[in-house]
Amino acid sequence: MEVSLLSLVMGSFTSATVGAAARLGVADALADGPATSAELAKAVGADHDSLVSLMNALTALGVFARNEEGRYTNSPLSEQLRTDHPESIRYLTALLCGLYAQAASGGLAQAVQHGTSVMPQAFGVSLYEYLDKDAETARIFDLAMQDWARPIGTVLAEHVPFENVRTVVDVGGGNGALLKTILAAHQHLEGICVDRADTCRRAEAALRESGDEDLVGRLSYRSSDILAEVPEGGDLYIIKNVLHDWSSESSVRILSNIRAAMSAGAGPDRKPMLLVIDPLVEHDSGAAFRNVIKMVVGETNARERTEADIRREVTEAGLEVVSVTPCPADLCVIACVLPGSA
Ligand SMILES: C[S@@+](CC[C@H](N)C(=O)[O-])C[C@H]1O[C@@H](n2cnc3c(N)ncnc32)[C@H](O)[C@@H]1O
Repeated sequence: MEVSLLSLVMGSFTSATVGAAARLGVADALADGPATSAELAKAVGADHDSLVSLMNALTALGVFARNEEGRYTNSPLSEQLRTDHPESIRYLTALLCGLYAQAASGGLAQAVQHGTSVMPQAFGVSLYEYLDKDAETARIFDLAMQDWARPIGTVLAEHVPFENVRTVVDVGGGNGALLKTILAAHQHLEGICVDRADTCRRAEAALRESGDEDLVGRLSYRSSDILAEVPEGGDLYIIKNVLHDWSSESSVRILSNIRAAMSAGAGPDRKPMLLVIDPLVEHDSGAAFRNVIKMVVGETNARERTEADIRREVTEAGLEVVSVTPCPADLCVIACVLPGSA
């Protein structure tokens, strides 16, 4: 298929259209069956005629469909926008097509000129400063990270040997989605999810509201600035999709804080391990484009790492790499230990 420049440029409207449907929850509203435009507008709280324009564009794209009676229905594509789909990317879509696209359109050219991160160019603040001030986008961000974490959670729960582990600490663990999957599969484990104060507060409240007494008893949230300190007490530390949002200097700083926490809890019978989980350029089919996303939301000089980069950062932080394993979703698991404890 020939791709014209104009069709690529129009792609920003395509993604904005899909992003609006994700944000409004159109796929959820159609989950129980077809709906007329009036029923759909009422269900998602939208202006009728505007929603019809949106749905006409989306059905032309094949993201939604219409049946013989003219009612809107989900299509195989829009099913993945349902919140309850096992591989849902509803919130990831809302974030990428919302805040991230907004930031990129507002500041990418200037950021490339100056070699800086886009967020301060577009909004005057870093990503996390922005999220601290916008509760609804912060909520979408946490749920988007949950969408992103889903494929790897099950793989880790199945393949990591947890027999000799009691406490798992997820550093920058967001709303704890990864830990929830691991803890559900391994009843003897306890989890500590370390993140920013605001994220921990929201996640803790959601966990309590869920009424899941088992998880409430085994999963706790600890607010900490991981650039300054990482809590002690883990047999296994995990840091997933975090380091690649930071410059190499900040990444070494975070890794050094994890090493300090691991050292504090180490002993002859306790040899803590760290799993760094990030895309590595050699195993990442989307690395070229992902670097643009790093430019938009990462710290200045955040880039996808090669295996050599991550090995150097881990060594600088005083840890040893024991294995590098490619995983689903373009990720790699880099297992690290304290020197001499392998
Ligand atoms: C890209 S998200 C990854 C979330 C999760 N690990 C995952 O893979 O789904 C980065 C996480 O790091 C957290 N974070 C960013 N800066 C932090 C800081 N200085 N201290 C603690 N957490 C931080 C964010 O709140 C966010 O949850």
